[in-house]
Amino acid sequence: MVTMENNNIIEVEQVNFYYGVFKALIDVTMDFEKKKVTALIGPSGCGKSTLLRLLNRMNDLIDGTRVEGEVRFEGTNIYDAHVDPVDVRRRIGMVFQKPNPFPKSIFDNITYGPKLNGVRGKTEQEALVQWSLEQASLWE
Ligand SMILES: Nc1ncnc2c1ncn2[C@@H]1O[C@H](COP(=O)(O)OP(=O)(O)O)[C@@H](O)[C@H]1O
Ligand SMILES: [Mg+2]
Repeated sequence: MVTMENNNIIEVEQVNFYYGVFKALIDVTMDFEKKKVTALIGPSGCGKSTLLRLLNRMNDLIDGTRVEGEVRFEGTNIYDAHVDPVDVRRRIGMVFQKPNPFPKSIFDNITYGPKLNGVRGKTEQEALVQWSLEQASLWE
């Protein structure tokens, strides 16, 4: 039984991960603390990206993969049968090294996620787009 007495947002426990028969992660146990930056450092091919993708179930999208052990987010194992991976990805985002915009306008790219999440008003969308671009120093 997991309690939230500690300061962990994510707990990885005894995780093994397989690409087909290839075991890419062997018995990984580690915690990610709330409001801290955690860096994964290691040689190319050691499994950093594989572990990262496990944290929001992105490896589910790769055929023939299998995970053992638990990845708990706020105390819930995100690999439990009742957990919806889309919900997981809504709450745990990922920013990639290489940006990959949709072939749409800048406005549509910025409002894509918010629209899916119910932001319908044009005025609200426009304010959000301006705010986002200002934050990124791209508005001017
Ligand atoms: N889609 C995949 N199919 C099969 N093997 C993979 C796949 N992605 C990564 N691997 C293998 O898993 C291991 C870990 O890779 P990866 O997580 O990308 O390492 P890192 O990000 O630390 O460079 C490597 O041996 C890599 O070849
Ligand atoms: Mg990598």
